[in-house]
Amino acid sequence: MIDTDVDLQPLNTLAIAAKANYFARVNSLEQLLEALEFSRRRQLPVLPLGGGSNIVLTGDFPGLVIHLQLQGVSMVDTGEDTLVTAAAGENWHQLVMRTVEQGIGGLENLALIPGCIGAAPIQNIGAYGVELRDIFWDLTAVHIASGEQQKFSASDCQFEYRNSVFKGSTLDQYVITQVRMRLPRRWVPRVDYPALQHYFSEHRLDAAEQGPDEIARAVIAIRSSKLPDPAEIPNAGSFFKNPLVSESCYFALKQRYPELVAFPAGERWKLAAGWLIERAGWRGRRINNVGVHHRQALVLVNPGRGPGAEVTRLAAEIATDIYQKFGVELEPEPRYYP
Ligand code: FAD
Ligand code: EPU
Repeated sequence: MIDTDVDLQPLNTLAIAAKANYFARVNSLEQLLEALEFSRRRQLPVLPLGGGSNIVLTGDFPGLVIHLQLQGVSMVDTGEDTLVTAAAGENWHQLVMRTVEQGIGGLENLALIPGCIGAAPIQNIGAYGVELRDIFWDLTAVHIASGEQQKFSASDCQFEYRNSVFKGSTLDQYVITQVRMRLPRRWVPRVDYPALQHYFSEHRLDAAEQGPDEIARAVIAIRSSKLPDPAEIPNAGSFFKNPLVSESCYFALKQRYPELVAFPAGERWKLAAGWLIERAGWRGRRINNVGVHHRQALVLVNPGRGPGAEVTRLAAEIATDIYQKFGVELEPEPRYYP
């Protein structure tokens, strides 16, 4: 059941060549517990893997990669909402489309995000004005050190923009096996995001009148127009988080760059990192195997299928340049391994 020296290139969307010293494909809770038992006996670090769309492999992984293939979806109408339960290995986008096709609203803005259900809570996935935390109910996870199952409520998960407890105090301690979401029957369209507004006005449609199906279609069209498909051009989506800065920092930058793109985020401002990177002249640049996407400067691409070090070197160069030019620190969004 445990394989050795497994090639991870087909299993990460940056298409980086790297190996897992040990590798297990798990289809059931029982297999997961056995794999974790193996890792404990050998004191191996564990990397739970879904679709590999938010990782950067900087070398071989010196432990056990557990490829989660747990399947199963159920949808229960509680009267007030639809309780959607999905196993970690289910594909995120397929689940979104399954709800949308049944006329159930709530997930449509999150259409076409690559990856699996089990990874969605890790960084509280978000797009087009909605985040997982808006419809999240709870999740079940296995504690790696003890093999015990535990439930996490929304507050336990400590969701923030592109962040959760699983990237903080419980980093590397749990494997998520199941996620539950509540999609309210009294659905309200979320169409404030500028690109959605623009899309509907261009198509002469009243944004507020659109159903989940039309919104999902709009999101898919917008995303397809600027984000590269990893199957054609390897990438990991946005490479950096949009930085949150103080009001004084925002106003100082806005004075210097009136065209700066930023959005209020509580007491802070969220800067469009893509704008900073484009403005610094990086959009469309290629260095050896890697580069910056020509239509979305926040996306680093790996068309030459180069090693992780090339990707991280380019990211570091960009971050240094942005800091020197704007005094703003960029933090990578995907996780670097090992
Ligand atoms: P993986 O890359 O396999 O894993 C990511 C991290 O989660 C790793 O640290 C891994 O160990 C951990 N993990 C995975 N599964 C589990 C589990 N079951 N239990 C515990 N830990 C686990 N993200 C957004 O938020 N919004 C977007 O709009 C968006 N657009 C994208 C567009 C493109 C083209 C690409 C390539 C990526 C995009 N992403 C986006 C990033 C990515 O799709 C999400 O982060 C997604 O949730 C990752 O899922 P995955 O299964 O591929 O995770
Ligand atoms: N912009 C530029 N040049 C660029 C890219 C962006 O000027 O090259 C400016 C534009 O003004 C644009 C604005 O930045 O209007 C925002 O761009 P976009 O709508 O493409 O969103 P983003 O901030 O670049 C974020 C998420 C995406 C998510 C979209 C839609 C982060 C780090 N990224 O990108 O998530 O799909 O919003 O909500 O928050 C991901 O996390 O991997 C990801 C793709």
